[in-house]
Amino acid sequence: MSESINHQQLAEQLAAGGQDHVYAFYDRLTPENKQILDRQVAAVDWKLVANLVNTVVKHPQPFTIPDDIEPAPYFPHVPADAAMRDKYRQARERGEKLLQAGKIAAFVVAGGQGSRLGWDGPKGTFPGTPVLRKPLFQCFAEFLRQLGRRAGKPVPFYIMTSTANHAVTVDFWKAHRYFGMAADQVSFFPQDMLPAVGFDGRVLLETDHSLALSPNGHGGSLLALHKSGALADMISRGVEQISYFQVDNPIVRCVDPLFMGLHDLEKSDMSSKMLPKAEPKEKLGNLCVVDGKYTIIEYSDLPDRFAEARLPDGSLKFLAGSIALHAIRVDFVQRLNAAGFALPYHRAEKKVACIDPATGLAIKPEKPNAVKMETFVFDALPLTQRSMVYQTDRLDEFAPIKQPSGVDSPESARQIMTQRNANWLAAAGISVPLGPDGRPDCTIEIAPSFAIYPEDVAAKKSTIPAIQPGANVYLD
Ligand code: UTP
Repeated sequence: MSESINHQQLAEQLAAGGQDHVYAFYDRLTPENKQILDRQVAAVDWKLVANLVNTVVKHPQPFTIPDDIEPAPYFPHVPADAAMRDKYRQARERGEKLLQAGKIAAFVVAGGQGSRLGWDGPKGTFPGTPVLRKPLFQCFAEFLRQLGRRAGKPVPFYIMTSTANHAVTVDFWKAHRYFGMAADQVSFFPQDMLPAVGFDGRVLLETDHSLALSPNGHGGSLLALHKSGALADMISRGVEQISYFQVDNPIVRCVDPLFMGLHDLEKSDMSSKMLPKAEPKEKLGNLCVVDGKYTIIEYSDLPDRFAEARLPDGSLKFLAGSIALHAIRVDFVQRLNAAGFALPYHRAEKKVACIDPATGLAIKPEKPNAVKMETFVFDALPLTQRSMVYQTDRLDEFAPIKQPSGVDSPESARQIMTQRNANWLAAAGISVPLGPDGRPDCTIEIAPSFAIYPEDVAAKKSTIPAIQPGANVYLD
């Protein structure tokens, strides 16, 4: 055991917080398992746990919707007039300049448990693309390599893991030689974990020598950036802006020069990309302004009277759905951590398999038996001094993989990718065979080395072979 871990002190700390059952089986553990448990206990912030037990677990505050919610203003995908066209041109140039100067880092949050998808491994290792089934991590690496090549400067890439998937994530990247990125360009750091807590306020044990731990939410990324030293590393490299994205989207623009440039020109602390919602209750957070502050209200929290509200032209009043793509200033993250981490913890009641600390017998609950506590990255929005929202194109960059089948599944993502690629080819004048339903009768994968924007395709048109019905086409 590491010299700095003192079992006796940990035991006293647990007892003082009413959590001494954590060591109920300690005396009978092997020396190895004692170490495992002590390490886990030492890594938990027990002061925070005590605080959360008193608030989130035992006295949860009901979520109340303020009456004065307004939709967040946004920059439209297609500029509305010549002035805006000019602004977007300047924004793209600014974004490209920032990339050339190495001032933008890409940042993926990959610490989630991915429980809905049920993939045995970190979600970033999931085979995402339609033809070659490239892992999601490879999609990001290839995009960033291409962007770095165009900028003449590699884009630093930060990957947040959790302690549960850190080692396997790092090993995966090593085994694939960082997918062609330079090893010193890719950094990994784990987020904090928190124990699940029973409704009585006692933390749950997964086994006799482990806590039932889960990562502390994607908002934990803003804390982990600071605690892990990643933020200091960014600063030492001259990085000023972070392009934040989720691990589950194979066609995400890991860094979008236009969006990053607009965010910079607008002097925004944290900006968000949005999509017009396909329906009032689409499962996206709603970008709103409450009390003058940008705020995301989850689809499940937005009452129907707001969700269904329409403007005179028939469009949804609350149109902007968040797709969890953010541009974040490095100094904003510093500020968030300067006086103690400021994001609120949310309560989720879950079924958590555990053991009974009195008997050691396994418990497989049939209804929720525990509270998990997480922070959400978008809760940083109301803490900004300035914020900004930009509308993006759904097909061009949103193919989420969340669950095994149906909406947001590997299959739906593959269809979106083929459709996106077919549109790019068609726009360049290449004929794509269509089925009776009007959808592509083929499967198309475009590697970032071939195109990262639709307009890249035209220049390579002559290299594209004729596409036969039912073909599998890979362009690189
Ligand atoms: P999701 O909300 O889809 O959660 O995460 P999840 O844990 O991946 O999947 P489920 O709900 O168990 O099925 C959105 C993004 O936030 C990251 C995920 O890795 C994903 O990129 N995330 C989520 C973290 O990095 N840490 C967390 O604690 C939670």
